[in-house]
Amino acid sequence: ATLTLSVIKADVGGFVGHSACHEALLEEARTLLAQAQAKGLLLDFYVTACGDDLQLILTHRHSTDHPEIHHLAWDVFKACTEVARRLKLYGAGQDLLADAFSGNVRGMGPGVAEMTIEERPSEPVIIFMADKTSAGAWNLPLYKMFADPFNTAGLVISPSMHAGFRFEVHDVLEHRRIFFDTPEEAYDLLVFIGAAGRYMVKAVYTKSGTVAAVSSTQRLALIAGKYVGKDDPVCIVRCQGEFPAVGEVLEPFTLPHIVEGWMRGSHYGPLMPVPVRHATPSRFDGPPRVIALGFQLAEGHLIGPRDLFDDPGFDEARRLCNQLADALRQHGPFEPHRLPMEAMEYTTLPEVMARLAERWQPLEE
Ligand code: 13P
Ligand code: 13P
Ligand code: MG
Ligand code: MG
Ligand code: MG
Repeated sequence: ATLTLSVIKADVGGFVGHSACHEALLEEARTLLAQAQAKGLLLDFYVTACGDDLQLILTHRHSTDHPEIHHLAWDVFKACTEVARRLKLYGAGQDLLADAFSGNVRGMGPGVAEMTIEERPSEPVIIFMADKTSAGAWNLPLYKMFADPFNTAGLVISPSMHAGFRFEVHDVLEHRRIFFDTPEEAYDLLVFIGAAGRYMVKAVYTKSGTVAAVSSTQRLALIAGKYVGKDDPVCIVRCQGEFPAVGEVLEPFTLPHIVEGWMRGSHYGPLMPVPVRHATPSRFDGPPRVIALGFQLAEGHLIGPRDLFDDPGFDEARRLCNQLADALRQHGPFEPHRLPMEAMEYTTLPEVMARLAERWQPLEE
């Protein structure tokens, strides 16, 4: 039957600093979601955290962007903010940028990835969650999963995937979107998604239109007009059958690719795949982390999770990540470790520069 899988997340307070989420917040969220499930609003739920971001994984019979589901998530984040205030956790309510709920949480701070699906006879899904990075961090791995035969063997050898996929790309500055078919338009697609700060893979579909993956593309700085922390995005990917196998979906993360984020959201750093217990970025508030929880859906019930990066197969990726992190860290405040000036406009740097504006003198020719 038809169901919707919604992942809605927000940073409502960090423990300690921005490094993790206090257990009291997770407990509060579980209590409230259990009540919503008892009332029949939810089929099932799972609560976790990636760094300081509280993650609500929900299944239900409503549509995407449904007011009742979004209102529930907003209320949970509000209640958890109260807990965070009581414990004086860091940045209580950080990602709640609006005062009152209005219709759905889009544009209000929380990140959202949702898909409505026909549950297959077996429905394996992976939910990726990242901390200390921005929307756009999924561009490279999604390309590899769905368009790179060196990553995904099924693109070549599986009759059900051989036709390729369709990518939906959003331009978050101009608020417009475009679709590209792969493999035939792969180079056109890469023109845009290689610039991951502006163009983001919002979703991937089979060529017959079945949804395969969706990501959150909220850019907090564009909503707030200033730096208010990183987006810390999420992404849902369906696996097996006409989609890549679980192992093909995880394989891109063996490259700790360089993403925006890390300390003060103002640095480039490698994305480290970790088990949930290691999703606690503390070194220079990083390096950026990604976790992957696998579930089998059964009539909307979330069977799982399996903590998929809790596998020694990713040890070398973590080691390489630390080596890249060391090399980048040694650049200190120099680009390309620090983000370029245009991106720094969303931090406190413009205030520092304004103070120095008077001191600039013209050069004599
Ligand atoms: P199993 O034989 O372990 O089920 O593996 C099947 C497969 O195709 C793995 O990619
Ligand atoms: P978060 O977006 O995870 O809160 O990170 C903010 C930050 O500035 C870390 O240094
Ligand atoms: Mg934070
Ligand atoms: Mg965070
Ligand atoms: Mg954040």
